[in-house]
Amino acid sequence: MIELEDLTKRYGDKLAVDGLSFTVRPGTVTGFLGPNGAGKSTTMRMVLGLDAPTRGDVRIEGKHYGELREPLNSIGALLEAKGVHGGRRAYDHLLCLAQSNGIPERRVGEVLEMVGLQEVARKRPKGFSLGMGQRLGIAAALLGDPRILMFDEPVNGLDPEGIHWIRNLMQQLAREGRTVFVSSHLMSEMAQTAEHLVVIGQGKLLADTSMSQFIAENSRTHVRVRTPEPERMRDVLVEAGLRPVTGGDGALEVDGGEAPRIGELAAANGVVLHELSTQRASLEEAFMRLTAQSVEYHAYAPGADGTQLPQTPPGAAPPPGGAAPPPQPGQAPPAWGEDWKRGR
Ligand SMILES: Nc1ncnc2c1ncn2[C@@H]1O[C@H](COP(=O)(O)OP(=O)(O)O)[C@@H](O)[C@H]1O
Ligand SMILES: [Mg+2]
Repeated sequence: MIELEDLTKRYGDKLAVDGLSFTVRPGTVTGFLGPNGAGKSTTMRMVLGLDAPTRGDVRIEGKHYGELREPLNSIGALLEAKGVHGGRRAYDHLLCLAQSNGIPERRVGEVLEMVGLQEVARKRPKGFSLGMGQRLGIAAALLGDPRILMFDEPVNGLDPEGIHWIRNLMQQLAREGRTVFVSSHLMSEMAQTAEHLVVIGQGKLLADTSMSQFIAENSRTHVRVRTPEPERMRDVLVEAGLRPVTGGDGALEVDGGEAPRIGELAAANGVVLHELSTQRASLEEAFMRLTAQSVEYHAYAPGADGTQLPQTPPGAAPPPGGAAPPPQPGQAPPAWGEDWKRGR
């Protein structure tokens, strides 16, 4: 179990983590979600005692990280895949960690096999691909057979096979009754991995809920209707008290409508339908709506005429020669993508 209480971190005038209180429980994969810059890595560093909280507290099975005598036996973590000595062979890197935590040497061979690195055990990590580096980091995390595992964006830069492997591993670790805490800035990835979700934005807690509840609360459903007679169908729907809007490809979209009722209305009025389908907003959209207000630096989507608007963080001075209008309330939130400001 990892317990955070009012956990806060300030860097100068930047509040990176702002009063986070939540508990990560055993037996499930808990996804820690938030856009780039939300404070996920800072939170994880504080769990491991690598950064001191400005205020508040975080405990691992009731203890501060610094109080754990052999920490690898309690919590295994992968924060930075590149955080290894490039010139020390994979096997020796793990052996060092094992010896400093009272772990027998045979465990090194076991974890190398678990992560599929036995072939390169005697190779130096500086020649490793990103995926191999991630696997080595995971091997280190598993070394002490800990009850708690924490991974910071473990699938970043991995190929589909690697992503699949990590996802299965995390679920298996949770099934064994361990606490698994994994961060991501991608909702779509978490949707397939996590049972529980903690969402943050600009350091603040936005949601602490089960994945199924998150979907139910945040996704909007609508019915999509395609017909060769959209005008007539629109009239039929309006007359029935529904409010259809025309989607980008000319299909009618009916918010809150029910597909069977719409089908019956079409039949009763003799309108031919080419498509009648219930659409559930993707989780990625739900996540973007939830975090839209808290995204630190928006990368504005191209303007309606196809031109790229200058990228300006909300509230910042407009660039010389042309102002980028910030999105108006009620408009669709701008897409957020690369964190252009920090350049990492
Ligand atoms: N060592 C640091 N010094 C100053 N600012 C930092 C430091 N680490 C992180 N930040 C800032 O804190 C915020 C949260 O960063 P981070 O925890 O890395 O977010 P995430 O992992 O969710 O992308 C960002 O605005 C980042 O620029
Ligand atoms: Mg991070």
